[in-house]
Amino acid sequence: MPEERPPAGAASDWTIPQRWQDYSAVEHATWDLLYARQFEQLPARVVPAFLEGLQQLGLGEGGIPDFELLSARLRGLTGWSVVAVPGLVPEAVFFEHLARRRFVAGRFIRRPEQLDYLQEPDVFHDVFGHVPLLALPAYADYMQAYGEGGLRAAHLGAMQRLAHLYWYTVEFGLMRHGDGLRLFGAGIVSSHGESAYALDDPAPLRIGFDLRRVLRTEYRIDSYQRNYFVIESFEDLLRQTLEADFAPIYAELASLPSLPIAVVQPGDRLYPRP
Ligand code: PHE
Ligand code: CO
Repeated sequence: MPEERPPAGAASDWTIPQRWQDYSAVEHATWDLLYARQFEQLPARVVPAFLEGLQQLGLGEGGIPDFELLSARLRGLTGWSVVAVPGLVPEAVFFEHLARRRFVAGRFIRRPEQLDYLQEPDVFHDVFGHVPLLALPAYADYMQAYGEGGLRAAHLGAMQRLAHLYWYTVEFGLMRHGDGLRLFGAGIVSSHGESAYALDDPAPLRIGFDLRRVLRTEYRIDSYQRNYFVIESFEDLLRQTLEADFAPIYAELASLPSLPIAVVQPGDRLYPRP
């Protein structure tokens, strides 16, 4: 668990200067390489709004984005900004930033020999994965509401429960797209391997989004997912989350067992395996 106090050099809200000037040529080249690899495979796989966000925010202009410039663009579109933090921050700090339309991002980038795997989110995951959709008003509203919902969940002792929703939407969500599926979760779109696996591999289950089902389903953080949840649209996701009162749902779920990963439950709407 992270310390409750910010480390030396960080402000009381845990933010640090990005020090964009200090990135090396190798670090910028690492971003460019990761960007090029994803840009090659994503256009046919990701929700169109993600590609529009990349474009509108100029994330492919070369090199690690300067958070000041990026935030200026984002603020003009949806009022969000991007701030740097030293690593994982306490949940309450994270929620507080989201509730104020600030996305917290790591400033470090993975080393060239870690292109496919790293344990902590770096600037590529945080910015390439999470920020493009913040240019979309419905998604921007969802993330702010999630922050507010997190602060509320903390008071209700339900923070761990709510985290399942974040995991299965913001990090690993899929969306129905005509007869097919598209990616939108940041954990998938920033991963070269999982971008293909999530849509093309027959192994994982793809289950229609249901709030209670998602909140009850376990998750693992150390491998590709073995079940994904599929939303209909961001508007539909907003309707089922932002417009719902979670307090009675937390109470109702407290006495129910959690659901194991990759086990079909009665009532699941399953998408056919590819
Ligand atoms: N509406 C939820 C609540 O009552 C909060 C929430 C909104 C959670 C949007 C996630 C996303 O707590
Ligand atoms: Co993430």
